[in-house]
Amino acid sequence: MSHDEFPTENPAVVTCGLPYANGDLHIGHLRGYIGADAFSRALETIGQETAYVCGSDMHGTPVAVNADQQGVDPEEFALEWHEQYEETFPQFNVEFDNYGHTHDETNTELTQEIVRTLDEEGYIYEKEIQVAYDPEADQYLPDRYVEGTCPYCGAKARGDECDEGCQRHLEPGEVEDPTSTITGNSAEYRERTHKFFEVSEFADFLTDFLDGLEGTSNARNQPRQWIEDGLQDWCITRDMDWGIDYPGEDGDGDDLVLYVWVDAPIEYIASSKQYSERVGTDEFDWEQVWKGDGEIMHIIGRDIIQHHTIFWPAMLEGAGYNKPRGIAATGFITINGKGLSTSRNRAIWAKEYLDEGFHPDLLRYYLTTTGGLQQDVDFSWEAFQERVNGELVGTVGNFWYRSLLFAYRNYEGTPDADVSAAVRERIEGAIGDVRESVNDYDLRGIGQAATQLAQFGNEYIQRNEPWKLTDDEPEKAAQVIRDCVQIAKAVGVLLEPITPDKAQALWEQLGEDGAVADAHLEDALEAPPRTFEEPGELFGKIEDERVAELTEKLEERVEAASDDGDESDDGETENDDTGADEAEGMTDTDDLESLSDERISFDDFQDLDVRVGRIESADGIEGADDLARLEVDIGFETRQVVAGIKQLHDLDELPGEKCVLLANMEKAELFGVESNGMILAAGEEADLLTTHGDAAVGEKIR
Ligand code: 2FM
Ligand code: ZN
Repeated sequence: MSHDEFPTENPAVVTCGLPYANGDLHIGHLRGYIGADAFSRALETIGQETAYVCGSDMHGTPVAVNADQQGVDPEEFALEWHEQYEETFPQFNVEFDNYGHTHDETNTELTQEIVRTLDEEGYIYEKEIQVAYDPEADQYLPDRYVEGTCPYCGAKARGDECDEGCQRHLEPGEVEDPTSTITGNSAEYRERTHKFFEVSEFADFLTDFLDGLEGTSNARNQPRQWIEDGLQDWCITRDMDWGIDYPGEDGDGDDLVLYVWVDAPIEYIASSKQYSERVGTDEFDWEQVWKGDGEIMHIIGRDIIQHHTIFWPAMLEGAGYNKPRGIAATGFITINGKGLSTSRNRAIWAKEYLDEGFHPDLLRYYLTTTGGLQQDVDFSWEAFQERVNGELVGTVGNFWYRSLLFAYRNYEGTPDADVSAAVRERIEGAIGDVRESVNDYDLRGIGQAATQLAQFGNEYIQRNEPWKLTDDEPEKAAQVIRDCVQIAKAVGVLLEPITPDKAQALWEQLGEDGAVADAHLEDALEAPPRTFEEPGELFGKIEDERVAELTEKLEERVEAASDDGDESDDGETENDDTGADEAEGMTDTDDLESLSDERISFDDFQDLDVRVGRIESADGIEGADDLARLEVDIGFETRQVVAGIKQLHDLDELPGEKCVLLANMEKAELFGVESNGMILAAGEEADLLTTHGDAAVGEKIR
């Protein structure tokens, strides 16, 4: 790993979290896979040698519980889903260089080898622990076979994760008031001997590792806190049949298998290895990446930060492997402002989206460019329509079509002229923006660089009105159109990581050979072929009636699932690794602070001077884990305020956001920084209050 800017001399691997092979893929999954695909394509566009690898996560209770429910063998069950995923991903232009699965030979062997090394290095020990047991089912209850209360936050939790509350990983025996998910009976705790990985030994290493880690800030800040709170060793075995045997165990039925989170990330290595074996090490050398100086980047959901920033790098370090250079953790997806829920059917399913006849690139654009990577993204058919019609149809598609059509009709292709210096400079600027965005792991920035260039193109053609120049000033007209054709091509090259099919179609319309996916960013400045055929429109408008129909369909379906009384967790184990059910709108009133009985007068309320503000800057306060210093414009003046949001928001994303500020709050000093006001936020995640209309900055809130 180097920390030189991309592209580096070293080969890179981009991965995304492995999907559990246990149910249909939905928009929550797609955000991650599409995002990582776009990032990997963008790295290649800027000249970084990159392999994009992944695989299905076949083991563990997420698969076993669902297979049990259907009365089928977990291997057969998982393989079926695996095959389905292999077919689905390419339909969204998610093109893995290798897609394996955790139960294959490569991963099984590599996992056992790594665990053996950790053992030999003295990082594994045995310990007697309390394990949940269901006497009626006569079975131990690892992970999702048991539910109870999170000892840290009191939320309802699964055996190995507080999925509805604080998102912590839970160790066997930690969940309180355990209940068996097999029989619904209370579970008892029984003593068992298990293997532990000494994560606590790695605290200093992990602190340094996090200091150098690139990606999103949430992937650095949360684990820093966990390290500070004290790292626990990690139980890496389970009482189950389904999984990879602990090395040396003979598989006689009473043995331990490895915890799914041991063999799952090792698939990142195994999948890279399979890719090398297929294409040859001259083309891609997995060992250089994983044991030498390659660049490793993981794109994950924010619910699995702990596994990737604590357990995984500790395992890699202990076994002598290279560590990730960057980890980018995405926010969740909400649907119409409410948490995605598979059991409530409040989801957009991958198959459903395609069956509705929408092009995958539209969803790719929406998912990668709506909000920053760390932010939650809300999907509604209305918002989807707005972005598609506004940006893809209105800006990009419109520019492509009008400039190519004019060029075709008047010059049968690209006019014979050089691109003007000003336009060349503008394209170079956009190329620079893409480079910077890739280095910042900023997918939205890549999309914006392209759409803003198309917007520039629209303004350029409009301002220069070439249609008025063709007769009297033909040279000038040719120059304008020459420039526009170049801009069109550049937009295509820049947009390829996000909308690969549409970029390819534009490429072909320009008469270019080969694949735009193989183009380098600088090719955006190369002249297109002299002649091309009549172009067609590449994006079509989504009509209002269609949106109304889709919205209604979604609402009906959610209602039907609720009418079934299906508010329980059944089926919820499938792919809810997105954690999206915990998102807004799903709160049970039991979890809410009770309403106050004490009333205040209107005058009391009037005493609060609450204003609309706009955040101008946001920086973490050194030495304070949670605090950030914000500069907030409130019309009359700019206020400095201190807010406890450092871990909860991507501070880089905040400038420009509107907020709500209590302006006559007493001044305070925190960590030596004066706080002159208070920004308002809701809930544990500090959801920042804002306004939704055009209330001006400084406006009083009444
Ligand atoms: O949370 C999940 O969905 C897991 N299947 C992700 C595994 S990612 C990796 F580390 F393997
Ligand atoms: Zn919790």
